Amino acid sequence: MAENKSIHGVWQNRWTFILAATGSAVGLGNIWKFPYMAGENGGGAFVLIYLVFVAAIGIPVMLAEVMLGRRGRQSPINTMKTLAKSSDASKFWGGIGWLGAIAGVLILSFYSVIAGWAMAYAGKIIGGGLLDQTDIPSQFGAFVSDPVETVLWHSLFMVMVLTVVAGGIHKGLEKSVQFLMPALFVMLILLLGYATTTGSFGEAVSFLFKFNPEALTADAVLSALGHAFFTLSLGMGAIMAYGAYMPKEHSLGKTVVIIGVLDTLVAVVAGLVIFSIVFANGLDTAAGPSLMFKTLPVAFSQMPGGIVLGGMFFILVTFAAWTSAISLAEPAVAWMVETAGFSRIKAALVVGIPVWLLGIACALSQNIWSDVTILGSDLLDFLDKLTTNIMLPLGGLLIAIFAGWIMRRSHVVKEVAMKNFALFNIWIVMIRIVAPIGIAFVMYNSIEAWLVFINK
Ligand code: TRP
Repeated sequence: MAENKSIHGVWQNRWTFILAATGSAVGLGNIWKFPYMAGENGGGAFVLIYLVFVAAIGIPVMLAEVMLGRRGRQSPINTMKTLAKSSDASKFWGGIGWLGAIAGVLILSFYSVIAGWAMAYAGKIIGGGLLDQTDIPSQFGAFVSDPVETVLWHSLFMVMVLTVVAGGIHKGLEKSVQFLMPALFVMLILLLGYATTTGSFGEAVSFLFKFNPEALTADAVLSALGHAFFTLSLGMGAIMAYGAYMPKEHSLGKTVVIIGVLDTLVAVVAGLVIFSIVFANGLDTAAGPSLMFKTLPVAFSQMPGGIVLGGMFFILVTFAAWTSAISLAEPAVAWMVETAGFSRIKAALVVGIPVWLLGIACALSQNIWSDVTILGSDLLDFLDKLTTNIMLPLGGLLIAIFAGWIMRRSHVVKEVAMKNFALFNIWIVMIRIVAPIGIAFVMYNSIEAWLVFINK
């Protein structure tokens, strides 16, 4: 095992790890997906359960992922292989890395399509007169139904992602995240200020936080769990890959809590903003994936300087998606560099081209191929559900079991190196018992929902 370094380099300091991991975590999941999932699942109860999953399962699993990555110091696939061997465990555990790398590229394919939508919206607001339209929400339908435009924006986004990944993540990522994350926060705070002037802020708060258990189905609980993994970039090795570049001497506990809190804040603020607009303008809470695109431009159209602010906002969303997308590709690319001896450029292309093609199919599944369904969903929706609700929780479950039960305890203690013994013990209980039982229980409860889903 390499000493204090991975062949891919090391972060400059703890803050760059926090920034890069936050860059991975904060993305479309927070601004696009969280609000519409909360809307589709009836608000309050979904949100509270999601928050519990983030705290009780997400953050402990994140600590486990960073710990495994830093100990293994390689791509997740090879890290899991090495760690399984050094704990005399079955080769099966190496499979966690594979499951993750595959989940990552599947997510990237549809993620890039949505990021393309966001980029297109930046262009439409700045140059296309979108904000002058009388019915802004309905413009979205016209846009997604254009196969050429949506495919082109997706292609541009893929080029952006692969360029950074091919260059090695230190060059591009560390710098961009340092500037972009704070800018995104400022922008969201500004929008939050606007939301309080809509007259519907209180309604948004009660929609998101009022506990309404009658809205909870097994499917909603599974979606909340899946989304906790999705939003924190967990369960597929992205954070493990970044952990491999983390210097040895830093403590992990505080680091992961900071990332979890920042990620949650962004999602909650985005939710408050979006639902204030929904209620103020009589829009549909359950609009689904189009929600962000139907609401935020309405707000910008009512603000002084809305064209500039709106354009900037969608550019920042694109950047947030960019730093996330990079982490989706990293496990597969890093593995190819290590194992096949490819250059980063070649590895980025070998991973990127199939992802790009699959993404094209996802973009077309929203227009000319919308009749083609897999188990009742269009391709984009199917890939999202398959990865978010099945692959990520399964990956998280296996990671928790591996870190809690399979890996040698002395290795775990040494790597986590928490000075606070009580906190360490709390983590051990979470990772050995709470996380595995919680995940298994939620997944088990949804088996019926899946069977229905599969038989459709
Ligand atoms: N967390 C990102 C978001 O919320 C998406 C993402 C990046 C991701 N890397 C991941 C999701 C790894 C799951 C696994 O937008």
